[in-house]
Amino acid sequence: MLLEGKRLVITGVLTDDSIAWHTARTAQEEGAEIVLTGFGRGMRITERAAERLPIPPDVIELDINDPAHMEALVADLESRWGGVDGALHAIAFAPADALGGAFLTTPAESAATAFTTSAFSYKTLAVGLLPLMKKAGGGSLVTLDFDNTQAWPAYDWMGVAKSALQSVTRYLARDLGEYNIRVNAVSAGPLGTVAAKSVPGFGLFEDAWAERAPLGWDASDPGPVGRMVAVLLSDWTPMTSGEIVHVDGGFHAIAAGTRQPEKE
Ligand SMILES: NC(=O)c1ccc[n+]([C@@H]2O[C@H](COP(=O)([O-])OP(=O)(O)OC[C@H]3O[C@@H](n4cnc5c(N)ncnc54)[C@H](O)[C@@H]3O)[C@@H](O)[C@H]2O)c1
Repeated sequence: MLLEGKRLVITGVLTDDSIAWHTARTAQEEGAEIVLTGFGRGMRITERAAERLPIPPDVIELDINDPAHMEALVADLESRWGGVDGALHAIAFAPADALGGAFLTTPAESAATAFTTSAFSYKTLAVGLLPLMKKAGGGSLVTLDFDNTQAWPAYDWMGVAKSALQSVTRYLARDLGEYNIRVNAVSAGPLGTVAAKSVPGFGLFEDAWAERAPLGWDASDPGPVGRMVAVLLSDWTPMTSGEIVHVDGGFHAIAAGTRQPEKE
């Protein structure tokens, strides 16, 4: 099995629609031992989603911006496993005034919140888990990106935070390679999760994918994204780091739709 014997931390499960939930399911099916982290008022919802996994895992509280939570998580993992082989960072948040077309009037604090929780937090997770990953002899970190190399409707400062996240991925890859830790991102197409539905105009993204993705795209199925995350967490990508892997039906490669001019 792809992840036999791996000890993995999966953040970002809220419901069983969450990309992280589908990653957790694939990871368990592929032989990994996992713990989930949950956040704030969503903890109870995460616990219910955990019960729907093949082997209900423990859920540990983690507000990524609370150093005491990170310390407690690391202490728990230390006594539970002694080491950690990998983690999924599936955490993003932007205040309402940083999304939805208010780009020109968003206050700096709201943009900073989007950056801290959605991009800087990959560094926070990586540094928190570093001692345990060193004990494991290295491992793999994966985050979830939405490609912001071009500007989107409504995505605004969350988009800017995603550009920062891509950059954080590369700098982490630079600094953690010496510990045999790979750091990558999976850039997913639009999926109808709680986070996505909080972006006003999410339907515009689905329309764009219907027009441009050569493989087509099912916004209700995070399974393909979860499977790619599992591949990157496995030993089958030992020389891949600082990479942004697209799981978007091929959308990113196509400029203006897949229709061809009529043949004469
Ligand atoms: N859904 C999409 O269309 C899509 C596409 C590409 C990338 N992504 C990214 O995938 C990741 C997971 O999102 P999702 O779409 O599965 O939605 P989701 O709502 O299921 O997950 C978002 C998670 O972020 C967590 N979170 C927010 N603030 C936190 C904090 N301070 N500390 C710890 N956790 C916190 C929430 O608890 C939740 O579990 C996000 O980074 C999102 O930007 C989503």
